[in-house]
Amino acid sequence: MRTSQPRTIYLSEYRPPAFLVDHVDLRFELFEEGSRVHSTLTMRRNPESTDSQAALELDGDRLTFLERVDLDGRQLTGSEFEDQGDRLVIADVPEQFQLTLVTWLEPQKNTRLEGLYKSSGMFCTQCEAEGFRCITYFPDRPDVMARFRTRVEADRAAYPVLLSNGNDVDRGEIEGGRHFVTWEDPFPKPSYLFALVAGDLVEKKDSFTTMSGRDIDLRMYVEPRNSNKCDHAMASLKRAMRWDEEMYGREYDLDIFMIVAVDDFNMGAMENKGLNIFNSSCVLASSDTATDAAFERIESIVAHEYFHNWSGNRVTCRDWFQLSLKEGFTVFRDSQYSADVGSATVKRIEDATLMRTAQFAEDSGPMAHPVRPDSYMEISNFYTLTIYEKGSEVVRMIRTLLGPDLFRKGSDLYFDRHDGQAVTTDDFVRAMEDASGRDLGQFRRWYEQAGTPQLTIRDEYDAGDQVYRLTIRQSVPDTPGQTNKKPQHIPFGVGLLGSDGRSIPLRLSGDDSNVTERVLELTGESHTFEFQGVTEQPVPSLLRGFSAPVKVDYPWSREQLLFLMNHDPDGFNRWDACQRLAIDVITSLVDAPAETPVDPRLLTAYRILVSDPEQDQALVAKMLHLPSEAYLIELSGEADVQAISRARERVLGELALTLRDDLVACYNRNQQSGPYELTPDAIGNRALCNTALAWLLQANDEEGRLLARKQFAEADNMTEQSGALRALVNSGFEQDREQVLGEFYQQWHEDPQVVEQWFSIQASSPKAGELPKIRSLLEHEAFQWKNPNKVRAVIGAFAGQNLVRFHAEDGSGYRFLAEQICRLDDSNPQIAARLVSPLTRWRKFAPAYRGSMKAALETIRDKKDLSRDVHEVVHKSLAG
Ligand code: PHE
Ligand code: ZN
Repeated sequence: MRTSQPRTIYLSEYRPPAFLVDHVDLRFELFEEGSRVHSTLTMRRNPESTDSQAALELDGDRLTFLERVDLDGRQLTGSEFEDQGDRLVIADVPEQFQLTLVTWLEPQKNTRLEGLYKSSGMFCTQCEAEGFRCITYFPDRPDVMARFRTRVEADRAAYPVLLSNGNDVDRGEIEGGRHFVTWEDPFPKPSYLFALVAGDLVEKKDSFTTMSGRDIDLRMYVEPRNSNKCDHAMASLKRAMRWDEEMYGREYDLDIFMIVAVDDFNMGAMENKGLNIFNSSCVLASSDTATDAAFERIESIVAHEYFHNWSGNRVTCRDWFQLSLKEGFTVFRDSQYSADVGSATVKRIEDATLMRTAQFAEDSGPMAHPVRPDSYMEISNFYTLTIYEKGSEVVRMIRTLLGPDLFRKGSDLYFDRHDGQAVTTDDFVRAMEDASGRDLGQFRRWYEQAGTPQLTIRDEYDAGDQVYRLTIRQSVPDTPGQTNKKPQHIPFGVGLLGSDGRSIPLRLSGDDSNVTERVLELTGESHTFEFQGVTEQPVPSLLRGFSAPVKVDYPWSREQLLFLMNHDPDGFNRWDACQRLAIDVITSLVDAPAETPVDPRLLTAYRILVSDPEQDQALVAKMLHLPSEAYLIELSGEADVQAISRARERVLGELALTLRDDLVACYNRNQQSGPYELTPDAIGNRALCNTALAWLLQANDEEGRLLARKQFAEADNMTEQSGALRALVNSGFEQDREQVLGEFYQQWHEDPQVVEQWFSIQASSPKAGELPKIRSLLEHEAFQWKNPNKVRAVIGAFAGQNLVRFHAEDGSGYRFLAEQICRLDDSNPQIAARLVSPLTRWRKFAPAYRGSMKAALETIRDKKDLSRDVHEVVHKSLAG
């Protein structure tokens, strides 16, 4: 319980640790009524410390009972140490010493899912960012790296599998039906990478031969009922291991690599050294229970955690302000990987959509922070889209500026120079500079300045001189605590198209090359680029491939967008033109009289998309996704959610009616025969069928209803079954909706991952997810407050995706969310704090919404014993 205001931690206060830990010897005695942890630390004063007389201070959090403290083999008396709960202080210690601590814990009562806890009968741990201090007192900071040896003891029958990091070096029996396994990790690591698992799990084995010919044991551990859901993750792991060797020259370093699936987990997965722990939903899959999207997510998360072995574990973060050093870089690596094993254009579209919809929103809201933050109250709140996704975009821009070869030289230098060290984002950039000879001084502002740069672009064509001039101005908006920002170094991809759709050579003055695509570098507040020898007024293709995470303002006409949609050689920009056109049409309807027609050019453009089998169907499937309500809100001034949603529904309804026959034809054409395949084409076909169904049912089309019922009943894979379910749930066919929801639950009620989908399809649906229904889902037999996935599937999906209901004009959605956050705050503050996010941008909304959003935040603020996690988010949201 918090008694005072949470403290703010500043980057500027960083000091090297006063003590180092060379070795950690752990012994866990796991029992049902609690666990005893024996920890022996071999420590010495840090020669780099500025305080050579400092007392020894170790971090602790919620440790039930400190049973004993020994210094160099002598038990200390109560007056020789100070147990402050969140700190253990020993004033008098020698230069070098051994400290042994014995601590009693109650993992079975741990609902926060940090430190050691129980999940469906097994013991597991989560130590990032500051969970190790919930296991024993320790200098719990990432720049303290130590070798760990861990002995795990438990009842043999209940916990036959005992795991920790590294290699198993010893095992045996203990009297009373107990046994032990000892693990030794030869690589020094920070405490946040420690892990332990004990349970009754089945083992799935495979192997991998590294590029230097070493054989690695690959093992997955899951509950017996999940043993048929491991193949995809295992195959993904092997692909990722090979890819990292080929693309980054990185080889795996231990003899064993283990993956464990856990049902109760706050995040997606965790890269503990040699023992990755995954949220079940991010690793378990079979084609009958997991959608294509889930397969893709699993592949990228397995790769992500594996890639951390180098970007995060071998080279780690000096302090938590450097979090993006490992997360931004690793997200970049996993997105390159996904682009390579799937469709690169589709992956880029997905990444850009996430950036523009959610990260831009974060970057312009009260929680905005730089990729390398300067301060925080609770580090768990900083596992954000800015750290992860914008951090990845920043690395991508470095690669764009350097080119692939120098970038690889830079990453080699970085890994080589800093192997075994805890470093900063600045060290990363310096390695890139040193390897390439380029000056990234100005580029560093991407790490320091929060906020999304805004580009205002104007052009003119001079027919007489045959010159086309592009003027680009940039500005970076103010964010909390940061004003008057300086221009950033922005790589800007560009092409020009002639009226025949062909690319025009881009000749800047004094240059006569024939390139038709360039990356311009913006460094000043304003640049004018003059392209020579341009024989007609061109259509510009701007920010190709989303070459930088910025907003673009250019006065496109609808004709130009239609032209780009059809002719831009850059697939990403064809999609982008389609989005911009749809946005323009929808936005213009928001305040227009009800009888205003939907621009027929949009309908025609979509008809062409739906009807053209020659186009890349995966890309077409993406183009058909209308911009989400969330993105339209983000783009609007003071958002009137109901009006935006009505306008969007209008366009959707009109599309469904006008293109009805084309949609049926598209559906039939894209039907798959033969076994389920996970190729970009097959995924695209299924996505198109599901979109066609969704649109037909949006218009309550009878043939669509029959097609959906048939697909639901006959599907042999979850993508088709849940696609049909979703379409029916979002339709006006109430009877069908209730029937298929019932059948689906009946069929899958024993599979938690499918039940989570069932919850979220309802909670995110404006038709099925009215507030009373949401409340009844919370009472459902399958709902568990202790399980973050269930909370996310109902409360998270409602507040994050069911915007029409969440933003109900009477404020009931906001009050509901506040109520659930207060309830969750006591059991799991990390999850509670994440749920606050839909309320934080209350200032963005029209007055009709704003007041009740703010009132909901105030209710949360006034809760007794509010956690530090929720406190930080709520107070920052209300401030200023
Ligand atoms: N480090 C994990 C990842 O991104 C995320 C995570 C953070 C997991 C904190 C648990 C706790 O790979
Ligand atoms: Zn990560």
